[in-house]
Amino acid sequence: MIIAIDGPAASGKGTLARRLARHYGLHHLDTGLTYRAVAAALLARGLPLGDEEIAISVARNLDLSRLDRDVLAAHEVGEAASRIAVLQGLRDELVRLQRDFAKREPGAVLDGRDIGTVVCPDAPVKLYVTASPQVRARRRTDELLSKGKPADYASILADLKKRDERDSSRSVAPLKPAEDAHLLDTSEMDIEAAFKAAVDIVEQAR
Ligand code: DC
Repeated sequence: MIIAIDGPAASGKGTLARRLARHYGLHHLDTGLTYRAVAAALLARGLPLGDEEIAISVARNLDLSRLDRDVLAAHEVGEAASRIAVLQGLRDELVRLQRDFAKREPGAVLDGRDIGTVVCPDAPVKLYVTASPQVRARRRTDELLSKGKPADYASILADLKKRDERDSSRSVAPLKPAEDAHLLDTSEMDIEAAFKAAVDIVEQAR
């Protein structure tokens, strides 16, 4: 059983993926963390973000069991991840790791930008989770404020739009729904409603 979940930044796909994995007893991989981990390693060592060979060698040494969203949450890391995500050779390497993960028994939930289109095109269930940029920016702002961190709605909204644009317009594996993905717009839903809607889709599809 593989559940593929894609969508833009702050759409709620990560929370949904985690909850679906727990509900169905499946492994979960947030593939954004694989891009973030490579980006963080490059930044930490002062290495260039545009050098494909260096990025690939960092990717080869990634340990998927040690990816931590809190450690990799920093805004600069997300920006750098979005930049290195255009490197085709790096993507090939990370997709290999992600496909290996998807083979784990009894199955897995993977979330990202290209799971339904590239990583697991044969997944029996594909969800494409969206929400309006305004709703996503509001959620991200509230999340940061609730953790006592500074957050400015206007700049978060501008950043999200910029990230959407970069992720959607790149020539390799752009963010877009797979043809057979079920669209789930959570703009008007809280997390409970979104989770119920996602379970309904999974039940009908499997
Ligand atoms: O979901 P996130 O914010 O952690 O992702 C960070 C960046 O990684 C995102 O801007 C684009 C890239 N990414 C990707 O290209 N493909 C994926 N499957 C996941 C993330």
